[in-house]
Amino acid sequence: MKQQHMLSHGLILGVFCLGFGALLAVTDMLTAKDISARALEDRLNSLSQVIPTTLHDNNLVKDAIVMKNEHGKEITVYRATKEGQITGLAYEIFGSGYGGEIKLMLGIDATGKILGVRALAHKETPGLGDKIDAKKGDWILRFSGLSLGNPPVEKWKVKKDGGQFDQFAGATITPRGVVGAIKKGLEFYAANKEQMIDFGAPKASAKEEH
Ligand SMILES: Cc1cc2nc3c(=O)[nH]c(=O)nc-3n(C[C@H](O)[C@H](O)[C@H](O)COP(=O)(O)O)c2cc1C
Repeated sequence: MKQQHMLSHGLILGVFCLGFGALLAVTDMLTAKDISARALEDRLNSLSQVIPTTLHDNNLVKDAIVMKNEHGKEITVYRATKEGQITGLAYEIFGSGYGGEIKLMLGIDATGKILGVRALAHKETPGLGDKIDAKKGDWILRFSGLSLGNPPVEKWKVKKDGGQFDQFAGATITPRGVVGAIKKGLEFYAANKEQMIDFGAPKASAKEEH
C-alpha cells in the first residue's frame, strides 16, 4: 500500500516536471524571437547615433563584416555606403573603467574622422563616471569631428595626463579609459583600413547581425 502511494506520488511529480519543462520550452521559443528583434532594434538605434542616416542608403547590418580587434576579440564592423561608395564605418571599442569594461560604439567616416561615439554598456558609478553616457551629459559628443591627427596623437589623453580632454571632477579613470579606447579605435582603422572597406571581405554571420 505504502509502495503504491510512493509510486503514484512519483508519477504525479514526473508529470508535473514534464509539463513545467514543456511550458518553459514553449515560453522560451515564443520570447526568443521577440528578444532578438529588440536586440536588433537597439543595435540599429545605437548605429543611427554614430552614423547619421543621411549618410547611407544601404543596410548597415547586412553589409557588416566580422574582424578581430587588437586583442583578438571578434568585432562586427558595420559599413555605410551611399550610391555604392563607402561613407562611414561603425564598430565596437572597449575601454577599461573604474567599474570594469566600458563598451562603446565608434562611428567614423572613410577618412577616419569621428562621426559619433556612444557608450553602449558600462558599470561606472552614477554621478561620477556615468557622465560618459549621452543621456547624462554632452562630454561624449565632443569627440565628433576629431581624428587621429586632430588633435595630435600625443594629445589623445585627458588633461590630467597632458592631453586635451576634460576629466570629470573626482573621476579621471572613466574618461581616461574612454579616451584611450577611442584613440585605439582610430588606430585600428588606420592599421586595417583596406580590409574594413573591402567589399570582397566575408560578411558577418546571421548570428552577429542580431
Ligand atoms: C565609491 C567610489 C566610486 C568611484 N567611481 C568612479 C568612477 O566611476 N569613475 C572614476 O573615474 N572614478 C571613480 N572614483 C574615483 C577614483 O577612485 C579616483 O579617485 C578618480 O578617478 C581619480 O583618479 P586619479 O587619481 O587617477 O586622478 C570612485 C571612487 C569611489 C570611492
